[in-house]
Amino acid sequence: MLNDKIIDNRKRLDQLKSEIEASGITPGLASQATQLVFGDGNPNAEVLFIGEAPGKQEDLQGKPFVGASGRFLDEMLESIGLKRQDIYITNIVKYRPPNNRDPLPEEKRAFLPYLQEQLEIIQPKIIVTLGRHSGGCFVPDLHISKDHGKPKRLKLQFHDDKTNNFAVVVLPLYHPAAALYNGGMRQMLLDDFSQIPAILKKIKDTVSK
Ligand code: URA
Repeated sequence: MLNDKIIDNRKRLDQLKSEIEASGITPGLASQATQLVFGDGNPNAEVLFIGEAPGKQEDLQGKPFVGASGRFLDEMLESIGLKRQDIYITNIVKYRPPNNRDPLPEEKRAFLPYLQEQLEIIQPKIIVTLGRHSGGCFVPDLHISKDHGKPKRLKLQFHDDKTNNFAVVVLPLYHPAAALYNGGMRQMLLDDFSQIPAILKKIKDTVSK
């Protein structure tokens, strides 16, 4: 049963990836990028991470968070007993912005319906947003300095059925890149990360009651 779901979700994600590649989305970014960086990990994950946009290494390898930020992310995952295979990870914007500039509002808007579809397929219990760009897509008026590490319960609508929705907890965190050269920030991220297992347990306890 679980295996069937994983296979089915993987197939749906592969189809979605092909759909984005064929869509002609953000031609300015696509023409300068090596490839689309769609997402990676467990297609049935309970915890799903969303970053900003691929950097140089991600663009070359076709996978999110494989550079310096990714190494710190792996360390944080390990600190709560998780591996890449346990989680799913993606970005809002799926082509690398030139010279790693911030993604533009219209680029984020263009990719948002596809991100929504990824979420609908995987239906994670927790969405961990990494940085203000991805946090801002879920939490209106996000102030990362005061909102980081504070879980919020949200209802996400299915894009093709406005009467249907699923509940999810969004945990806004700083982007791992912010911690690369700042020891205080590093500890703050590790502390915020350490809440993930308890949040997950609380969600599961609530659902089974
Ligand atoms: N930063 C991001 O936001 N995403 C990546 O995939 C890599 C670095």
